[in-house]
Amino acid sequence: MSNAITEVGEFFNAWAIYRKVLANNYMHHQAIYRAVENLLAEHWGNRPFKLLDLGCGDGSFLAQALQGKAIQHYTGFDLSDPALALAAENMAPLGCSTELMNIDFMAGLAQTTERFDIIFTSYALHHLTQAEKAEFFRLAQDALTENGMLLVIDTFREPDETLPVYLDNYCQWIREQWLHCDELELTAIFQHIRNNDFPETAAILSAMAEAADFDPAEGVYHVPWHQFLRFNKKAVVG
Ligand SMILES: C[S@@+](CC[C@H](N)C(=O)[O-])C[C@H]1O[C@@H](n2cnc3c(N)ncnc32)[C@H](O)[C@@H]1O
Repeated sequence: MSNAITEVGEFFNAWAIYRKVLANNYMHHQAIYRAVENLLAEHWGNRPFKLLDLGCGDGSFLAQALQGKAIQHYTGFDLSDPALALAAENMAPLGCSTELMNIDFMAGLAQTTERFDIIFTSYALHHLTQAEKAEFFRLAQDALTENGMLLVIDTFREPDETLPVYLDNYCQWIREQWLHCDELELTAIFQHIRNNDFPETAAILSAMAEAADFDPAEGVYHVPWHQFLRFNKKAVVG
């Protein structure tokens, strides 16, 4: 496992900080996951589906969005044992078969022989390098069923932001807005972000997806630096 992946794993093993982010809705989980819930209801209705969640964390918001849906099977990959233990509790009420694994999600995606109707990832993709993101779309294409869809929630650079400008702007925004985090927590957050976050613009991510035979990104939800994008597989002609 690379140093970068180990560092990300260590940060999220201290789940307490991210728990604060969720509790205070700092990364817009409430509105974004309402959009997830609506999309699932509109697109899948009562049809059963299998879902793969990459970097699932504690799965708390997704479990709520999946309530009452016809989910047949849920697989979650993550590197944080505390988060996976919480995910097991949060997914249990859904009553579907569930597999939770402590594994680098790129390795898990490459290894899986299962085919999923939905591949979902929320706030985990931005840790990958550009080459790894391109590989992610190729692997996701192979692991989806014919009519499957890829749902990506993540941090993004705004169209004109370089990575250094984004990092300064995003850290400044956190300092101004994440008022329930103390100085020690903020130091850990800034260090994590500056060492491990490589968000793309939505246009760059969409071009990568198109290179792997997805349709262009459909924006489902957007507030500055946080977006929910949907990617459909390109229809096979002939
Ligand atoms: C910001 S949290 C997001 C958790 C959840 N998906 C959400 O939206 O609330 C990112 C999660 O991705 C996991 N993660 C990051 N990189 C990973 C990797 N390469 N393989 C597996 N899990 C990873 C972390 O352990 C963490 O639980």
